[in-house]
Amino acid sequence: MSDPNQAQAEFWSTEGGRKWVQFQGVMDTTLAPALDLLMAGAALRPGQSVLDIGCGAGASSRAAAAIVGPGARVTGADISATLLEEAERHAADQPNTGFICVDAQTHVFAPEYDALISRFGVMFFDDPVAAFANMARALRPGGQVTFVCWAGVDLNPWFRLPAQIAARHLGPSEPPAPHAPGPMAFADEVYTKGLLQDAGLSDVCITPSAVMLTPPGDAEQVASMATRIGPAASRIAAVEAGKLEIAEVGADIAEAFALFETSQGMRIPAVLHLCQARAA
Ligand SMILES: C[S@@+](CC[C@H](N)C(=O)[O-])C[C@H]1O[C@@H](n2cnc3c(N)ncnc32)[C@H](O)[C@@H]1O
Repeated sequence: MSDPNQAQAEFWSTEGGRKWVQFQGVMDTTLAPALDLLMAGAALRPGQSVLDIGCGAGASSRAAAAIVGPGARVTGADISATLLEEAERHAADQPNTGFICVDAQTHVFAPEYDALISRFGVMFFDDPVAAFANMARALRPGGQVTFVCWAGVDLNPWFRLPAQIAARHLGPSEPPAPHAPGPMAFADEVYTKGLLQDAGLSDVCITPSAVMLTPPGDAEQVASMATRIGPAASRIAAVEAGKLEIAEVGADIAEAFALFETSQGMRIPAVLHLCQARAA
């Protein structure tokens, strides 16, 4: 049998990871409200040891490290060496932060953590129940799990608009199988609650949370990024769209996102799930 999550490991260590690194600054600014939601939900305390799953370039690991303080440790775990290189670079001045390149579904973690956190890093497992059961073993009894994920495409114009516009110009893409690994895998609250319970976690609570995404720049800049990363970019790559088609897609995305330009900058409504649970 092939290794689980092999396709994800490959994606995040090659093209997907490289793009995420390229746009990391923009992503961190855009997704800052999701980090705020995560940190408010996790309510970490000084001295706690924290495991940050799918930490990517490490924004949430650094935020956790600042809270738990120099006497405690944050471990960022990710399947992508490409992203972890970036995480290590950014956290160089936070000696209480370390990173490990592992598949969180199968890695045998030391059972020493008080809290597990993740910003958008736990929706990519081929067996989510096995993955959460494995990660729960990293937690001390009663240890807390807190993560944020997307509440679905329909509630999130950040994904919906580029996907719709790309489909209009380039034809629709095959819809993913329900709950397939990907950003929207945990959009269904009932399914997500069930899998966390099946993994042996207790006190499972999922809170739909409205936030405003805050990408830097204007709608043109959002559109320029959307043709290079995300659902429109995937469609563009899949059909090998030409320059003219890409420009048309970009222009329509810019027009659609102009609706979200405000005097404070871009404010794009989003709905996330704040998911919380406890290890037995
Ligand atoms: C959407 S990115 C989020 C990155 C980061 N948490 C952030 O908010 O910037 C998803 C991350 O999950 C990681 N990932 C995917 N599958 C994984 C697995 N099986 N084990 C560990 N990390 C995984 C990817 O490499 C990627 O860094």
